Amino acid sequence: MRVGDSHYRTIWLEGNSVYMIDQNQLPFAFGIKKCEDWLETCSAIRSMNVRGAGAIGAAAGFAMAQAYMAGFHPEEALHKIRSTRPTARDLFYAVEKVYHAGQISVNNAVNVAQGIADENSEAGRKIGIAGENLIKDGDRILTHCNAGWLAFVDYGSALSPIYQAHREGKEVMVYVDETRPRSQGARLTAWELMNEQIAHKIIPDNAGAYLMGNKKVDLVITGADRIAANGDAANKIGTLEKAIVARFYGIPFYIAAPGSTFDVNTPSGSEIVIEERNQDEVNYQSGTDPTGNIQTIRVTNPGSQAFNPAFDVTPAALITGYITDKGIFSSQDIRIRLQSGSL
Ligand code: MRU
Repeated sequence: MRVGDSHYRTIWLEGNSVYMIDQNQLPFAFGIKKCEDWLETCSAIRSMNVRGAGAIGAAAGFAMAQAYMAGFHPEEALHKIRSTRPTARDLFYAVEKVYHAGQISVNNAVNVAQGIADENSEAGRKIGIAGENLIKDGDRILTHCNAGWLAFVDYGSALSPIYQAHREGKEVMVYVDETRPRSQGARLTAWELMNEQIAHKIIPDNAGAYLMGNKKVDLVITGADRIAANGDAANKIGTLEKAIVARFYGIPFYIAAPGSTFDVNTPSGSEIVIEERNQDEVNYQSGTDPTGNIQTIRVTNPGSQAFNPAFDVTPAALITGYITDKGIFSSQDIRIRLQSGSL
């Protein structure tokens, strides 16, 4: 992804340190955060300086490699990295792979962690090529949260087909759900689309049904954090509502994700652990004041409690298809491919 004149990956390993685009500063400032040891990388995952299933997968793999490089007790590091965030499958996929690789040698752990990041970037590129076929010139596409290049090492999942369609000269218009409470749509997806010069409008989270009911949306594409063996998909809270509305109005609803997000060991969505985050994310918002200073303000009734589940699960029955790095599949195909290990 280009930012100004430079190409950036969302996260990378250099020497013993992990570098990442600090997503908590975006879109108001562009900064790179350096994590000098695996504990700092863990805290960056927890605080969402790096976020999005693929990107936290790469971060978790790098953190495990850092623990090996530091000579830290690997089982303890594995346990701590796994506990940073519970829902995204990529995190567990990556940390376990690097843990096993490190049993052979420290170098092997580092190489496998680098390989996971490369694999994630390449999967995003292939998702773009597969999904682009679904997009017609002039389409208006609704997306939720940020499943772009910031949520991956590069390219993204849900946004990758949109970038590819745009590169091929198709006119697209993207409706970006703001995605409260952390506003990954309004802050990150909008920032990415602006960098790529793709037409887009940020919409309030509760505007999707109005737009779909008024024939202003041709296609919905979102990402996923974990997809169960039966095709049920966990994604950012609010995705389920979009899927229900899309089905009601006969609008195709696609989930885009790489093979590392599919979890053959979780039979259905009801077994997916849903992260509950701090209520302050609902009660407070940050942004810039008219002079450009970043301020955090309370936006809810002082004294009220808030509830902040970070994800919901969309049943496979509401999903038109899955855009993967291996092609586009129905939930039935997904079940067969997962059983045969070909995803
Ligand atoms: O809590 P986040 O921002 O890490 O949420 C995860 C996501 O980015 C989304 O659910 C996204 O749509 C799927 S991740 C590619």
